[in-house]
Amino acid sequence: MKVHILKNEAAVALAVATRVTRLLAERPSAVLGLPTGNTPVRLYAELRRRHRLGKIDFSKASTFNLDEFWGLPWTHPASYRAFMEEHLFQHVNLAPRRIHFLNGMAKSAAAECAGYEAAIQRAGGLDLMILGIGTNGHIGFNEPAPSLTADTHLARLAPATRRSNAYLFDGRQGAVPPTALSMGAGTILRSRAVILMATGASKAGAVRAAVHGQVTSRMPASLLQLHRDVELVLDQAAAGGLR
Ligand code: PGA
Repeated sequence: MKVHILKNEAAVALAVATRVTRLLAERPSAVLGLPTGNTPVRLYAELRRRHRLGKIDFSKASTFNLDEFWGLPWTHPASYRAFMEEHLFQHVNLAPRRIHFLNGMAKSAAAECAGYEAAIQRAGGLDLMILGIGTNGHIGFNEPAPSLTADTHLARLAPATRRSNAYLFDGRQGAVPPTALSMGAGTILRSRAVILMATGASKAGAVRAAVHGQVTSRMPASLLQLHRDVELVLDQAAAGGLR
C-alpha cells in the first residue's frame, strides 16, 4: 500500500481530484467507482470546480457507485443517489446512460446485484475505485464479520454504521435502513486501482489496523493489502496511528 499523508482535508480532496483529472485526461472513457459520505464532499466540490473551468471532461467516462440503502427510492433525500446528484451528477457532463447505480427499490436484490456485476464487466471493469473507510474499518457496506461476500450483495449495516449515517435522517438512528446494497470485497479488489481517502482522528484506529494489522474480514479495509495498486490518501489526523 502506498500511503500519502497530507496536511488537511482540503489537501486530500485536491490530491484525489488531481488523480481523477489525470486519469480522465489519459483515458477519457475511464470507469470510476465512487463513494458517498462526508469524506468525498470536498473531492466532489473540487471536481465540480475543475469542470466549470473546463479542466476535466466526464463526457466519455462511466461511473458505478459503491452502495445504496435498500428500500429507499432515488427521490429520497437520504438516498446515496440523491447525494451524488447534489454533489456531482447535476453539475458535470457525465452521460446519464453511463451513470450506474444500485437501485434500492429493485424487486429482487439478488437480480439487482447480479445485474450490477454484469454491467461493471460490460463496461470493461473498474479503472479506479475511490473509497472511504468506516470507523469500524468497513469499505462500502462490507462490515467487520467472520466472513465477507465477494460480489455485490444485500448487506446488513453494523450498529456503528447506522449511527454514523443517522445525520442523513435528521439524527434518527432508527430511521437508517438496516440493510443496503453494496459492492463486495471482490468487486472492489477487481478494480485496476484503488484509492482510499480518510480524514479526521476518528478514522485513525481503522487506518492503522488496515495498514499494519493482519488481513482479516474483521477489518475489511485490511483486504486492500492484497491489491497491488492501492493508495491511501490521508490527512495527518487520520494517519495519527501509523508507525
Ligand atoms: P464518511 O463515511 O465519509 O461519512 O466518514 C465513510 C464510510 O463509512 O465509508
